[in-house]
Amino acid sequence: MLRFLLRAAGLVALLPVGLGAATASQRSFGINYDKNYFLKDGKPFRYVSGSIHYSRVPRYYWKDRLLKMKMAGLDAIQTYVPWNYHEFKPGVYNFSGDRDIEYFLQLANEIGLLVILRAGPYICAEWDMGGLPAWLLEKESIVLRSSDLDYLSAVERWMGVLLPKMKPYLYQNGGPVIMVQVENEYGSYFACDYDYLRYLQKLFHHHLGDEVVLFTTDGASKHYLRCGALQGLYATVDFAPGGNVTAAFLTQRGSEPRGPLVNSEFYTGWLDHWGHPHSVVPTNTIAKTLDEILARGANVNMYMFIGGTNFAYWNGANMPYAAQPTSYDYDAPLSEAGDLTDKYFALREVIGRYNHLPEGPIPPTTPKYAYGRVTMEKLGTVAELLDDLSPSGPIRSTYPLTFVQLQQYFGFVLYRTTFPKNCSEPTPLFSPLNGVHDRAYVSVDGVPQGVLERGKSNMINITGKAGANLDVLVENMGRVNYGRYNNDFKGLVSNLSLGQVTLIDWEIYPLDIDGVVGHGLNSKGGESKTSGGNPSRYAAPAFYTGRFSIPSGIPDLPQDTYIKFPGWTKGQIWINGFNLGRYWPVRGPQVTLFVPSNILVSSSPNNITVLELEQSPCGIQKCAIEFVDKPDINATLQYESNTRKLFTKDLWLDPLII
Ligand SMILES: *[C@@H]1O[C@H](CO)[C@@H](O)[C@H](O)[C@H]1NC(C)=O
Ligand SMILES: *[C@@H]1O[C@H](CO)[C@@H](O)[C@H](O)[C@H]1NC(C)=O
Ligand SMILES: *[C@@H]1O[C@H](CO)[C@@H](O)[C@H](O)[C@H]1NC(C)=O
Ligand SMILES: *[C@@H]1O[C@H](CO)[C@@H](O)[C@H](O)[C@H]1NC(C)=O
Ligand SMILES: *[C@@H]1O[C@H](CO)[C@@H](O)[C@H](O)[C@H]1NC(C)=O
Ligand SMILES: *[C@@H]1O[C@H](CO)[C@@H](O)[C@H](O)[C@H]1NC(C)=O
Ligand SMILES: *[C@@H]1O[C@H](CO)[C@@H](O)[C@H](O)[C@H]1NC(C)=O
Repeated sequence: MLRFLLRAAGLVALLPVGLGAATASQRSFGINYDKNYFLKDGKPFRYVSGSIHYSRVPRYYWKDRLLKMKMAGLDAIQTYVPWNYHEFKPGVYNFSGDRDIEYFLQLANEIGLLVILRAGPYICAEWDMGGLPAWLLEKESIVLRSSDLDYLSAVERWMGVLLPKMKPYLYQNGGPVIMVQVENEYGSYFACDYDYLRYLQKLFHHHLGDEVVLFTTDGASKHYLRCGALQGLYATVDFAPGGNVTAAFLTQRGSEPRGPLVNSEFYTGWLDHWGHPHSVVPTNTIAKTLDEILARGANVNMYMFIGGTNFAYWNGANMPYAAQPTSYDYDAPLSEAGDLTDKYFALREVIGRYNHLPEGPIPPTTPKYAYGRVTMEKLGTVAELLDDLSPSGPIRSTYPLTFVQLQQYFGFVLYRTTFPKNCSEPTPLFSPLNGVHDRAYVSVDGVPQGVLERGKSNMINITGKAGANLDVLVENMGRVNYGRYNNDFKGLVSNLSLGQVTLIDWEIYPLDIDGVVGHGLNSKGGESKTSGGNPSRYAAPAFYTGRFSIPSGIPDLPQDTYIKFPGWTKGQIWINGFNLGRYWPVRGPQVTLFVPSNILVSSSPNNITVLELEQSPCGIQKCAIEFVDKPDINATLQYESNTRKLFTKDLWLDPLII
């Protein structure tokens, strides 16, 4: 009760100064608590918004996607700011090219879209570590998203860079940003640290001014709002289509007895994980619930309006460990490639009942081109190319070091040691503490032996003589983005044993694959060795290359395309040095990768580099990848039926806090 009174007092104090006194030339944005709506320039305002993450769409296509959103009748867009996308190393920032958030905001402004900015520091978003930089884990015991002093000092430095950049884009300063979200679904996190939220509130006001409307977003249940809401931060909720809209908004009323109703994440689709069926949410269900939300005058943000792509290594993961694929299509109204879908037109029709739809043509779906098969040729195995891939050479350590200890945050690290004794009988190589994060490709004297995988397989049998070379190439498949498992260390995070013996005396090779691929990787042309035990199943992780030219005489090329991987198993692919992401067609559901046209050139051949981790078709047949004009992110594969339903929002709940 005391909390409630304090809260009500806080809300009164939050009312922006000068409400109602705004003239046409005075831009203001605030909340009218008596009438339960937002006030824009002193007039009642309700928004219909859609999510787009600039980090998941190439800059080249920002304008196209934003225009399509505008033409759907949206008033606003909502975007996250992924901290780790901008501050790659402590104090080293990047806001250029695809990371130029200011340009993105300017475009939205020009197109006439308002912006709801979700500034973090934590964003979830199916993004690596929920947007938190992995280097925060250099303090091993750090309590993320809490008043931990080391965490706060990193947050303070970052927000001291980001928020001053954002200030001129606030609505009252002439820009498009009407509201700024603090943290994200904090009520779903175990820490429940009100001091942390208060600290962020102060920090945001310090940089953005007192007028700015700050808000929080939490799942629509009392349980989430308990730790997610804070006096002075306007509490909003998120919920899916098909449920009871009245009941969902009543939970918001539990925290905000007065003020506008807001669903900050109304799900137009859902996320995917490797090895699980592609998520599809029927258009009818979404259209019906959207209509109910709008009919009651509530504000809504559709998450996602366009999902886009987890390029490079940016996908996140959930627990029990399951990584999200490269595509973040999300079954959203605009496809991963920005295509107009039936869902787009159906939702536009619903929005049109409440908003004036802009006149003029909707930008058409971009054409896709099937460039066809490209022959690939082997450059060499990771072991053969090691001098190039690891220019700094190995770090020697008795016990394994994690990626963070090596200050390599993404990609792959090679851990090498030798057999301490003769193992002529099959001997278990295993990770007693399930410490392979996340997937390890094991070779003995260059001969592939098998794969260890986090949460799935922590033991394989191997043989070898004393002194034989043991290579364990470890892949970081994406850090957990949700819940208490955010402190997700990568690499060999605990010891490996061979039989009864703990393996020691490692040579650990950090691999600068992206740097090397960018400059061109040269062939070592070694003969590849096939697997000892199971010859057809594994080959040593290796690089392949191929080139293709854009056909001349056809207008409007290069166009977007999709890559298919016939006969390939799992790996990473680059075109002209741009890291397109992970492929894993044997696990699915995604079997093609989206290639935006802006990374292709017509003036010279385009260079393809593939790192295949398990088995390529090369050697068995003439090997190739293939460019096709249709995506396939919905392959029917063998799924693990017991985990099918694991990732519905409510089941994400951390068992320890229920
Ligand atoms: C910054 O990011 C852009 C866009 O991804 C990239 O092209 C550029 O190389 C990066 N700059 C640095 C210094 O890393
Ligand atoms: C929806 O929830 C409200 C409030 O809890 C309740 O009164 C109503 O009966 C529910 N409607 C349905 C169809 O269950
Ligand atoms: C391992 O076995 C070889 C014979 O295959 C033998 O010569 C050698 O001494 C053995 N080494 C150890 C350390 O037992
Ligand atoms: C490893 O070898 C042992 C003994 O030969 C056998 O019992 C076990 O099933 C094998 N495990 C695997 C994963 O192959
Ligand atoms: C490996 O084992 C040693 C000896 O038991 C222990 O001191 C060390 O902390 C372990 N290392 C890791 C990364 O678990
Ligand atoms: C492709 O690789 C060649 C050889 O390394 C290089 O000269 C050329 O510039 C690259 N092309 C592109 C488009 O990056
Ligand atoms: C995916 O496959 C399911 C089952 O075959 C189908 O119902 C759904 O429409 C497909 N979705 C897409 C986006 O192709």
